[in-house]
Amino acid sequence: MYSYWLESIKSERKNYDKLKDNIDVDVCIVGAGLTGLSTAYYLSKNSNLKIAILEKDLIGEKTSCHSTAKITSQHDLFYKYLIESQGKEFAKKYLESNEESIKEIENIIKKENIDCDFEKMDAYVYTEEDDEIMKIKDEVFSVNSIKEGLCEFVTNIKLPRNVIGAIKFKNQAQFNPAKYCIGLCKAMEKERVNIYENTKVYDIQKENDNYIITTEDNEVKAKYVVLATRYPIINIPGFYFLKMYQSTSYVICVDTKTDLFEGMYITSENPKKSFRTIKNGDKRLLLVAGFDHKTGEEVKEEKQYESLENEIRKMYPNCEIIGRWIAEDCIGLDKIPYIGKYSTLMSDLYIGTGYKKWGVSLSNVAARIISDDILGKDNPYKEIYTATRLEPIKNSKEFGNIVKQSLKSLVIDKLKIPNKTLIDIKNDEGKLIEVEGKKVGVYKDIDGNIFAVKPVCTHLGCELTWNSLERSWDCPCHGSRFNYKGESIESPSVQHLKNIDIEEEK
Ligand SMILES: Cc1cc2nc3c(=O)[nH]c(=O)nc-3n(C[C@H](O)[C@H](O)[C@H](O)COP(=O)(O)OP(=O)(O)OC[C@H]3O[C@@H](n4cnc5c(N)ncnc54)[C@H](O)[C@@H]3O)c2cc1C
Ligand code: FES
Repeated sequence: MYSYWLESIKSERKNYDKLKDNIDVDVCIVGAGLTGLSTAYYLSKNSNLKIAILEKDLIGEKTSCHSTAKITSQHDLFYKYLIESQGKEFAKKYLESNEESIKEIENIIKKENIDCDFEKMDAYVYTEEDDEIMKIKDEVFSVNSIKEGLCEFVTNIKLPRNVIGAIKFKNQAQFNPAKYCIGLCKAMEKERVNIYENTKVYDIQKENDNYIITTEDNEVKAKYVVLATRYPIINIPGFYFLKMYQSTSYVICVDTKTDLFEGMYITSENPKKSFRTIKNGDKRLLLVAGFDHKTGEEVKEEKQYESLENEIRKMYPNCEIIGRWIAEDCIGLDKIPYIGKYSTLMSDLYIGTGYKKWGVSLSNVAARIISDDILGKDNPYKEIYTATRLEPIKNSKEFGNIVKQSLKSLVIDKLKIPNKTLIDIKNDEGKLIEVEGKKVGVYKDIDGNIFAVKPVCTHLGCELTWNSLERSWDCPCHGSRFNYKGESIESPSVQHLKNIDIEEEK
């Protein structure tokens, strides 16, 4: 399902060519979401380095242009947790680095004249439950202890819900991320930056003082590489698959046929529900997101949408749903992003990931840290985001869950032979079935055409689950996704699934 943001730039989007030659550059950026584009932007404006951006699909097509695009340092109720787990100085730096991002993004928009519906808005985490109120009050206390005057506790807010209390962050912002991405590309056109779309990277190898980045048909030689693929596409060294997982959320765009509220909102309680409005000509649309779960977890995806829609219809009974989509983001085990050098064993290779669904501001933080490091400048925030840290693995309960999930999908599930066969699959349905004692993933399209794949993830070999809503094979281990034909659509996988000829297998 296409996002509202991507629809909004269809007519003004420029297409960039696929890489057709071997090239030699100073910096190769892999992935053209907010992280990749923002890093390229800072590098191009502050140096004469020759830069290539390689994007496997189109600019911004993945999470960046499927998000709710709030630009805020309010990352749920986070600062009490940060102070308790990392200390006050750390929490202060985290807050400051993200507050700076709001200003930086506004400055870029002004300087480059980017028409992306940027609006200043207050941001709220609110609750409708009595037993959540203390958490909100504690968060207000924590934030005030590191930056006085930024937030306040409020009870009277404009969102038409039964709100009991909320923490309000003043002077935050929102925008249209697709228009911003296009604006960044235009701003870089005059610089030494070349953008290549439909150019997938398969491998990155160190060769003497350079990296060789391998695409389908060509090679790029670069001194520096920025891995901006959201989930890193190389596993070793780095071992990010042990320190991170992906989470999927559902988004609905709504015409409420009424005037809408001001502000950006998210619940403190789970399941999360996030609200913001969008400028659309002379009226406003509503964007609601939430009901997240670990990618690849077996849930009834249609039910997640239904739950979200029910919430909206309670507020606006006459509303019209005009768009819906899903997106995923990476969550680090200690909830702190991984930004900077990818591994101590691979100097000059950088990463920005683990934004836990707050990557609009955090991708800007990452872009500043990475570009400063490449340009030999100090950055006051780099220590708190150090990507090579191993504490998340040592300290986290979630690490146990990752290991358990991997064991289940790598070993236990694979041993179970399903008792379904081809005739058990209806049209427009996907299932794991048994063919000659082997497990096969089959989707029958609406006309009964059969698409059969080996249901084993090409990242690290976990067993895939069927996502009936998106008609995709999703991986419960680290969140790779493949369409029903078996083509890899979401990282960390890069290779497609093996297609199986069921007739031959019979
Ligand atoms: C539902 C939802 C709502 C959100 N709302 C907010 C919000 O309100 N505010 C906020 O701050 N954050 C929000 N986020 C988070 C934020 O959108 C992300 O953290 C951020 O966009 C990530 O940007 P990125 O550039 O790292 O990743 P992406 O946008 O996913 O970009 C990665 C790019 O790399 C490319 N790529 C992958 N593999 C390869 C390869 N092998 N070769 C070449 N290219 C490759 C992909 O095609 C993609 O274009 C939300 C996230 C979700 C899921
Ligand atoms: S995403 Fe890692 S095994 Fe599938």
